[in-house]
Amino acid sequence: MDKFCTILLISSFFIASTHATSSKEAEKWFKNVPHRKEKFVKLHFYIQDALGGPNATIWEVARAQVTANSPTSFGQVRVLDDLIIAEPDHNSKKLGRAQGLIASAGLHESSLTMNINFVFMAGPYNGSTLCIAGWNPIERVNRELPVIGGTGILRMARGFSISNTYSYDPIKDLGVLEYTVYVSYF
Ligand SMILES: *[C@@H]1O[C@H](CO)[C@@H](O)[C@H](O)[C@H]1NC(C)=O
Ligand SMILES: *[C@@H]1O[C@H](CO)[C@@H](O)[C@H](O)[C@H]1NC(C)=O
Repeated sequence: MDKFCTILLISSFFIASTHATSSKEAEKWFKNVPHRKEKFVKLHFYIQDALGGPNATIWEVARAQVTANSPTSFGQVRVLDDLIIAEPDHNSKKLGRAQGLIASAGLHESSLTMNINFVFMAGPYNGSTLCIAGWNPIERVNRELPVIGGTGILRMARGFSISNTYSYDPIKDLGVLEYTVYVSYF
């Protein structure tokens, strides 16, 4: 066997063994689901949406021919990586990132079709994620979106979130959104 094949064999062994370890944990966790108690929690945090300037956290990646002339920016697709903070103030505790894809999908009303992942990097859910996806009519209050899943501590999460625009600073082009998430998980 030549050297390359040996390296390949050793590295695939390591990949296989690390994979096996994580699957074992998942197997064990899953088998135990019927004995786990469903937990219900309410999470409350803010998301900082930096819309402009070199440090913007939301960027356009595509638009349709009609987007520029559409009052609702129909056809615009954006990717975001927003900061999640505990309080509306920029210097409050950083809890993680909200990463995802949003598409302006309303022809007659400003609304987004979105897929956002809350990636928690501090606090009791550090390392866990929640996935929200759905319809977001951004000019309304108390916008409700489904929580469709989670990972880590939040495995098998489901629920919904209520969000509102907390503030918008036109000088900094900075929006702050308030989210309350009602979720159950195992
Ligand atoms: C952008 O971020 C960099 C690095 O954190 C910072 O030095 C710079 O002042 C920021 N620029 C603006 C316009 O906020
Ligand atoms: C979050 O978890 C990571 C990985 O376990 C750890 O390195 C980090 O220090 C934690 N962060 C906080 C703020 O607890």
